Amino acid sequence: MNELLRKFQELGIVPVVVLDNAKDAEPLAKALCEGGLPCAEVTFRTDAAEESIRIMAQKFPNMLVGAGTVLTIDQVDRAVAAGAKFIVSPGLNPKVVKYCVEKNIPITPGVQTPSEIEQALEFGLDVVKFFPAESAGGLKMIKALAGPYVNLKFIPTGGISTKNAPEYLAYDKILAVGGSWVASKDLINAGKFDEIAKITKESVAMVKAARA
Ligand code: 3PG
Repeated sequence: MNELLRKFQELGIVPVVVLDNAKDAEPLAKALCEGGLPCAEVTFRTDAAEESIRIMAQKFPNMLVGAGTVLTIDQVDRAVAAGAKFIVSPGLNPKVVKYCVEKNIPITPGVQTPSEIEQALEFGLDVVKFFPAESAGGLKMIKALAGPYVNLKFIPTGGISTKNAPEYLAYDKILAVGGSWVASKDLINAGKFDEIAKITKESVAMVKAARA
C-alpha cells in the first residue's frame, strides 16, 4: 500500500467536498485542517473544482488534496496539474485507472461487484472505493466481498455519516470512510466554516472512539 493510502488509514475519513465557488477553498481547507482532518476529495462536479484544488494545494502544502468524480483522463491531467495528490472515481473506468497506474498517480476507483474488484486487482490496486456504500449493501456487502479478496481494503462512500461510520471503521478491511457530512455543500455555500471545523473535530473523535 502506498504512503498516501496509509495516510487515509491514519485519518479514517476522506471528506468529499463540492465547491461551487473557488473562493471557499481556502476557508474550507483551513477548517478541515483546524478540525484535524487535513484532507479533501474535491469533486470535479463544478467548474470551481480545478481552481479549488490549486488553492488548497498551494496554501496548505501538507494537506492531502485530491480530486473526486474523475471520469476522464483529461480530468486526471487537470487535477494533477492543479496539485491533486490522489484521484477518486465513482466507478472503475479502465482507461482512467490504467493511465493513473502507469503514471504512479494514486487512484481509488469505485466498485460494487466481484468483477469490478477483479479488474482493480488486475491493475495492481489494493484499495478500492465501495460506492454508493449504503445503497449497495453497506457493511454486510463489504464483508461478503472481502471474503475472497483477502488483501483488499475498502473506502466505503455514499450515505455515510457520524451515525453509521463507527460500524464501518470498526471492521479491519475498512481503510477509511468517505463522505460529504463533514463539509456539506450547504454549509460551504452558507460560509459556515466554524461549523465545519466543529463537525470535523467531532468526526475525528468519532474515528478514535470507533477504533479504540
Ligand atoms: C458523493 O457521491 O457525493 C459522495 O460519494 C459522497 O456521498 P455522501 O454525500 O452520501 O457522503
